[in-house]
Amino acid sequence: MGSKTPLTKNQKLLTWIDEMAGICAPDQVIWCDGSKEEYDELAQMMVKNGTYVKLNEAKRPNSYWVRSDPADVARVEDRTFVCTKNSEDVGPTNNWRDTDEMKAEMIKLYTNCMKGRTMYVVPFSMGPLGSRIAHIGVVLTDSAYVVNNKRIMTRMGKAVLDILGENGDFIPCLHSVGMPLKEGVKDVPWPCNANNKYITHFPAERTIWSYGSGYGGNALVGKKCFALRIASSMAREEGWLAEHMLILGITPPNGEKIYVTAAFPSACGKTNLAMLIPTIPGWKVECIGDDIAWMKFGEDGRLYAINPEAGFFGVAPGTSMKTNPNCMLTMKENCIFTNVAYTEDGDIWWEEMTDELPAKLTDWKGNDWTPDTGTPAAHPNARFTAPASQCPVIDPAWEDPKGVPISAFLFGGRRGSVVPLIHQSLNWQHGTFLGSIVSSEKTAAAAGKVGELRYDPFAMLPFCGYHMGDYFNHWLTIGKKGDEDTLPKIFYVNWFLKNKNGKFLWPGYGENSRVLKWVVERVNGEGKAEKTAIGWVPTKDALDLEGLDISPDELDELLKVDPEAWKQQIPLIRKHFAQFGDRLPAGLQEELDSLEKRLKG
Ligand code: OXD
Ligand code: MN
Repeated sequence: MGSKTPLTKNQKLLTWIDEMAGICAPDQVIWCDGSKEEYDELAQMMVKNGTYVKLNEAKRPNSYWVRSDPADVARVEDRTFVCTKNSEDVGPTNNWRDTDEMKAEMIKLYTNCMKGRTMYVVPFSMGPLGSRIAHIGVVLTDSAYVVNNKRIMTRMGKAVLDILGENGDFIPCLHSVGMPLKEGVKDVPWPCNANNKYITHFPAERTIWSYGSGYGGNALVGKKCFALRIASSMAREEGWLAEHMLILGITPPNGEKIYVTAAFPSACGKTNLAMLIPTIPGWKVECIGDDIAWMKFGEDGRLYAINPEAGFFGVAPGTSMKTNPNCMLTMKENCIFTNVAYTEDGDIWWEEMTDELPAKLTDWKGNDWTPDTGTPAAHPNARFTAPASQCPVIDPAWEDPKGVPISAFLFGGRRGSVVPLIHQSLNWQHGTFLGSIVSSEKTAAAAGKVGELRYDPFAMLPFCGYHMGDYFNHWLTIGKKGDEDTLPKIFYVNWFLKNKNGKFLWPGYGENSRVLKWVVERVNGEGKAEKTAIGWVPTKDALDLEGLDISPDELDELLKVDPEAWKQQIPLIRKHFAQFGDRLPAGLQEELDSLEKRLKG
């Protein structure tokens, strides 16, 4: 398994590892080659020490069930920091710490933190190997669970070092579960440090230090830490985009395929849209990614996107053969399931997976569970880690190093009223404005007042690695690099409108293909639309509703632009914008003022 001797001659990498190993003091340093043998051996080791339970091979081959420490179940936004010299550079949406102070504090924590453990050296590429849009990282971690998750979520191992070569550059990432093992003491199945978690980013040095958590986005540092927070800051410096967006391809019956990306806040159905099965005959949707898009300009002036990840790390509860069959089929083998429930026949289960509840389960805490237990069997943030290559509708171009040319961006959130099913921006600057006011309503399940709005600009609120005002400006700058013909068209969707009785007006899921069809038509300069105060809205006859049970009144509601309701949004948007102070670009202020004027008519 792996190698005790370095697999590279890259001096920067060797020097850094020496320095970090000197501080963390692991018992040994192992270089991961990314092979299947290595993966299997680590998995067996984790079965032996109680971290993993192997699932029934006949039901779900080569897959594992893992339960985390109940104190380590989700991303910890209040323990996530962007560290710079100047606090003003991170803006109001990030937690700030001074670089030197944070480093000093963390070095204290890291000192001897890997005693009794192995430091794994994990080289990984975010994006297809060798793509000009991709970037390389190396994580040093004391978690075998992280190593095996990274083998699914990224291109990982020796092949990455070959590309890095002797002089290549990489993003250094240090990760520790923060629980040194004393000699003679038996390890726990899920080591972590319940009281001391730090997820820290140093954009000036393009460095990530994570401590104390073994879970998800805290520990799989390639995902939110690198591919969004650090990459967004790199993208700003270098003139590209790192976005919290799914990527999908749409092929109409005439075969003229286009690619679109979409940014929605959490719990708004990104994975479902990325893998949807169109209900309109002759249309096909294929998936490139469900969470993150990196986009750089091609020579033709168009933006080309890659999915920097190689797997899906999705929320399991709510996923079913009804809501997302392609996702369920993706998970049929070679997966890791964390904090889901375990069935009597050695498989996995979570809330809403089946209509009928299993009579008996082991829940995510390891306790016996029956339908009368009264608590969820799976943790609401239980996750699957699944190889993207197993998705039945994975796009043939998903690993193309060139990326795919993007024709449209969709923004959206969960709004029961005000925002129509779809509208299109008037131009790039207006589209940037639409991204900056992405908002979602809190549901009854979440803390806070029901219906209360949370602005989540570009769905990047927890993921933008620098001042959000500067980020808005970066979007405007990108608009100046292209022209309206080559840049993606910008749309805003809302699948969540409700009628007076609180019932959803739009069926969603596969029926969203009808909305995608209008997007394709608009991209091609077709598609009927009416110019309203908020942008272009489909005319009543523009959407293909063939075979769908939607009454004319319901259609009115779905496409309605109510100036009075929108006028009430203006003070909310002003307040949202006010937090960015003088870093709010003039262009966005201008858009808000023009919207207000248009609403007054
Ligand atoms: C995710 C998230 O895990 O956005 O993708 O929180
Ligand atoms: Mn996400």
